[in-house]
Amino acid sequence: MIRRLKDKRLLVVGAATGIGRAVAAAAVAEGARVVIADLAAERGATTARDIGAGFIRCDVADEASVKVTVAGAAEMLGGLDGLVNNAGLQRAGALEEIAVDDWDSLMAVNTRGVFLATREAIPHLRAAGGGSIVNTSSLAGKRGGPGIAAYAASKGAVMAFTTAAALELARDRIRVNSVCPGFIDTPFNNPAIAFMGGREEQARIVERMVPLGRQAVPEEVAPLYVYLLSDESAYVTAQALSVDGGVYN
Ligand SMILES: NC(=O)c1ccc[n+]([C@@H]2O[C@H](COP(=O)([O-])OP(=O)(O)OC[C@H]3O[C@@H](n4cnc5c(N)ncnc54)[C@H](O)[C@@H]3O)[C@@H](O)[C@H]2O)c1
Repeated sequence: MIRRLKDKRLLVVGAATGIGRAVAAAAVAEGARVVIADLAAERGATTARDIGAGFIRCDVADEASVKVTVAGAAEMLGGLDGLVNNAGLQRAGALEEIAVDDWDSLMAVNTRGVFLATREAIPHLRAAGGGSIVNTSSLAGKRGGPGIAAYAASKGAVMAFTTAAALELARDRIRVNSVCPGFIDTPFNNPAIAFMGGREEQARIVERMVPLGRQAVPEEVAPLYVYLLSDESAYVTAQALSVDGGVYN
């Protein structure tokens, strides 16, 4: 069997649960050596043990924490060939009720965190002769939706950052892409589901909005990350690729 990420040294940030966990597990299965980083210390350590990865506790909103994490991962792995910026926070509510603190924490985790980890990883990727950075944006960043204005803004910024970083780093053979998942069934969406009126109402909205008529599970999103982290995507950069059952077209 060809292992598509054989010997790649990868840091996956935001991987204790959900999409990040699925990405880290798929990467290990494809032969990568992986360190995961997450704010959730206990769940992160358990996930790392379960999938065969290393673990570093990290708050992506905190500059010092990100510096220690990226340096620590590079030391544990003997360098870095790839970075996944997947840590994320969700808040939902009517636009005129968004608190400044909520706005700021979404920007700090979803947007600043991507910038910080990318900035810290660049010297390591350059030293490796190039690499791949994959940022988790969202369908919300492409087309928004009721009740998620702040979240949508934070994820739209991730796409703009991805494009700019990709254009700047292309000469270093560092590729930067974002993935835009649609409705993925994780507890992450609970605030948005509550805003929609509960699980049954959300199921009706999903059926109406999603051409494929259903949510996805994290394991259906992970293969796109594997592709983007692998050399199969050597000519793909500055893209925002959707995995959303056909919603954004
Ligand atoms: N679930 C969806 O429908 C969906 C859709 C589009 C995009 N996304 C994005 O996918 C990513 C993963 O979401 P998920 O659905 O798997 O949810 P999740 O809650 O399972 O994963 C988010 C992870 O980020 C970690 N995290 C949160 N704040 C952090 C911080 N300050 N520092 C480090 N780690 C932190 C959490 O502990 C968790 O492990 C997020 O960026 C989210 O915005 C999810």
